[in-house]
Order: sequence, then structure tokens, then C-alpha cells
Amino acid sequence: MEKREALYAGKAKSVYTTDDPDRMVMVFRDDTSAFDGKKVEQLDRKGKVNNKFNAFIMQKLEAAGIPTHFEALLSDNESLVKRLDMMPIECVIRNIAAGSLCRRLGVEEGLDLNPPTFEMFLKNDALGDPMVNESHIATFGWAEPEHIETAKALTFKTNSVLKKLFDDAGLLLVDYKLEFGLVNGQVVLGDEFSPDGCRLWDKETRTKMDKDRFRQGLGGVIEAYEEVGHRLGIDFG
Ligand code: C5P
Repeated sequence: MEKREALYAGKAKSVYTTDDPDRMVMVFRDDTSAFDGKKVEQLDRKGKVNNKFNAFIMQKLEAAGIPTHFEALLSDNESLVKRLDMMPIECVIRNIAAGSLCRRLGVEEGLDLNPPTFEMFLKNDALGDPMVNESHIATFGWAEPEHIETAKALTFKTNSVLKKLFDDAGLLLVDYKLEFGLVNGQVVLGDEFSPDGCRLWDKETRTKMDKDRFRQGLGGVIEAYEEVGHRLGIDFG
């Protein structure tokens, strides 16, 4: 497998084509951004930590019957993935109120959400990723309704797998964002799962151990990611 040209560079990852048209290389960089790219910093070890964290979680999800694009770790900060045709939608599940939910609905951070909420956001930087519903997605043709139904079901299935996994490690899975794409007509989990795209709190102290440490300037960002990884038994090498 040979890495070829850069296809896309996001805020924290870059994607390269390979000599296999069905496979790509995802490179996790140390760049860390928040607030639509208004706050950007380089955090030492982040690319490696998120690459290995993502590999661990994707393999757990795959083993639980959730199709993912992950194929193999290639190096400290690179993974081989299947090439997907991505849907421009972010799927978010919340088990505990935090972040934009609190700002939008005026609820207090930390409120237990039972049943968990499911929300979708359109990936559009210029519009600030607005929240959208199934009707908007169908009307504007951003994805097929049956693909959105499947993505929603897989996002909930992910919740049951990961809530237990994190709970066993003494952590609360507060919320998270997933992105899906299509390969041969099948809806497959793409992008990444790392502390950059979810909220994790210590079960006893409710200490934040995710990207909110960066967003809120709390410090110890990568140390917190590593602590979560160690509790899960991830070897960062
Ligand atoms: O900001 P908000 O509270 O809506 O975020 C919900 C969850 O989705 C958080 O875990 C956040 O890290 C994640 N998220 C993300 N990428 C975005 C928006 C939200 O990973 N563009």
C-alpha cells in the first residue's frame, strides 16, 4: 500500500489517496481547534493519542456489529481506512446535558437525559453547522432518508456499546458526534471517535477529560486523553 496525494485536510486530520482506489490513509495531526477554527493550537502527542484511541474504539464497535471504515493502524499517527462517500451530517447523542444543548435550551449542565437525545447537524463551516432534522435532509437531498434512519440506529447502537465500555473504566459518556458514509450502498461509520469528538467525565468527580479542557482553557488536555486511554487499557507506545 502506497500513500499518494493529499485529498483533503480538515482541522485536525488529513486524508491521502493510496494506490488502492478503495482505501485511504487518515493522518492524525497535533493541531487542535475549537470554535470553528477560531482557537487553534498544536498539542504535543495528540495525533498519536487520537490515532490509537480511534483504532481501539473502532475495533470495539466493529466487534459489536457496527460497520466502520477502520482497517489498520499504519504508524503512530496514520490509519488505513475504507474510502467512503460521506454524508454531510453529524449525528449527536447526549446522555447528560452539556455544551450547545445547555446554551440552546437553557438546561443545566449535568442533567441526566433519559431517554438520551439524538440531534443532527449539517456540516457547513460557513453556516456554523446548523441543527437540521430528517425533513430538511430529505427536502434538500443531503442524504437518502433510509440512510439517515440507519445512521441513527447505528448511533444508538454505538451508545449502548460505548456507555458500558466507558462506565467500566470509571467514566461517564456525556455525549458524542459520529459521521457516516456509504460504500457499496452500505452505511458505514467514518471519521473518528476520540476525546476530540465526545465528552467524558470522571464518574466520581465529574472532572472533564475531553476536548472541553481545550475549549475552556483548563489545561492538561493530552494528559486527560492519555488517562482515559490508560483506563481503557490502550497502549500508546
Ligand atoms: O457542541 P455540542 O454540545 O453540540 O457538541 C456535542 C458533541 O459533539 C460534543 O461531544 C462535541 O465534542 C461533539 N462535536 C464534534 N464536532 C463538532 C460539533 C460537536 O465533535 N463539529
